[in-house]
Amino acid sequence: MNEFLKKCNIAVIGLGYVGLPLARLFATKYPVVGFDIDTTRITALINGSDSTNEVSDSLLKGVLKIANVDKEAKGLYCSSTPSEISNCNVFIITVPTPVDQNNRVVLTPLVKASETVGNVLKKGDLVIYESTVYPGVTEDECVPVLERVSGLIFNKDFFVGYSPERINPGDKVHSIEHILKVTSGSTPEIATQVDDLYKTIITAGTHKAPSIKVAEASKVIENSQRDINIAFMNELAKIFGLMNIDTQAVLEAAATKWNFLPFTPGLVGGHCIGVDPYYLAQKAQELGYNPGIILAGRRMNDSMGAYVASDVVKMMLTEDVPVKNAKVLVLGITFKENCPDIRNTKVVDVIRSLQEYGMQVDVYDPWANTNDVLNEYQLEISNTLLSKKYDTIILTVAHSSFLMLNFDDLLSECGVVYDVKGVLKSNRVKASL
Ligand SMILES: NC(=O)c1ccc[n+]([C@@H]2O[C@H](COP(=O)([O-])OP(=O)(O)OC[C@H]3O[C@@H](n4cnc5c(N)ncnc54)[C@H](O)[C@@H]3O)[C@@H](O)[C@H]2O)c1
Repeated sequence: MNEFLKKCNIAVIGLGYVGLPLARLFATKYPVVGFDIDTTRITALINGSDSTNEVSDSLLKGVLKIANVDKEAKGLYCSSTPSEISNCNVFIITVPTPVDQNNRVVLTPLVKASETVGNVLKKGDLVIYESTVYPGVTEDECVPVLERVSGLIFNKDFFVGYSPERINPGDKVHSIEHILKVTSGSTPEIATQVDDLYKTIITAGTHKAPSIKVAEASKVIENSQRDINIAFMNELAKIFGLMNIDTQAVLEAAATKWNFLPFTPGLVGGHCIGVDPYYLAQKAQELGYNPGIILAGRRMNDSMGAYVASDVVKMMLTEDVPVKNAKVLVLGITFKENCPDIRNTKVVDVIRSLQEYGMQVDVYDPWANTNDVLNEYQLEISNTLLSKKYDTIILTVAHSSFLMLNFDDLLSECGVVYDVKGVLKSNRVKASL
């Protein structure tokens, strides 16, 4: 270990889906303070429980420090008291970067977290940002906050880095240490220090980008590329829907060519893919460029909830299932499979549209927190299946447990299934996206 690594005392600011796995991993080698403004989250973590399911109780308990007495000892101390990070010299910021109702960039959490760090920043300290942003946010938006609050001078008294996070919620194979990490720093020497630091925990290795802006841009285009590719699949699903051609069968045939990209149509929700392209688009617009392709992808993907509902109605009419007052079961409300994350889920758009057609909709999701769904979307859902028969079932999320369901038990005699994800084998499936 070089001298820099030997004296690293790390603070991770924001202990959500990204921050907690990172803090836990660093804590296996370094003293780490995990700071979050959410006191409920901190209490749960101190008790060894992660509601996001990204870190198992045993792994979390394996690094937890009950008190922050020996500040040099490796391990993770969680707190919502800002003064607890004052002894640290490396600050890693992993707070949300959402958009508002008009899809405009919201940098408030990044600014607030930078203020928290600015208050304790000392000469020689390093601040690394991991949140997904458009190129320029670290140096043009966050650094001025750090300078203002600390009174220190950038690249003389303190330094910054940017290292985007690439984890995938619910994915237990591509866990943080197994994903190659892009790193960068505000000077060539700092870039090497940042890279060295991540190399000590990321077994998959690192890629040192030539500048912070390059590293920022690389992350935002990864997610924008995915969004645009899925949007193209969604457009194909709409076209083939008009032609009564099975989209899944078309994709299966096309995928036999070596360079056909295996994307599938679907609902694009969550905190990243459906949000990050707006960051790049807004920056492009500020520079006078109209990002037509990026925004077309967003428009297409945001239209899919209403489209799925209309396609379900088409299926019901074809199968002679009455639409008005139909009893409908929606399977899944999280934004993706086998994960409790309900942020920005587009299943809500499907449910609202079905209700507008006069259907009675029940939602079953064993993964989602019912209170969170009620607070966020004013929707009552259930974690258990009700003993009811339904006229239509719509699989919206491919949770593994849904693949075992016996649809004959859940459907009325002429009931039918719509499979958004194209994963069900039941002969009661009459249509899919
Ligand atoms: N979720 C993912 O899979 C994922 C993957 C790659 C990148 N990202 C990016 O990482 C960033 C964080 O995402 P996330 O999913 O971990 O968000 P999250 O909402 O799960 O967690 C963020 C945490 O930050 C806390 N927080 C908010 N403001 C704070 C402040 N001022 N000080 C301290 N704590 C604060 C919140 O209480 C929350 O616990 C975002 O920019 C996101 O786009 C997320």
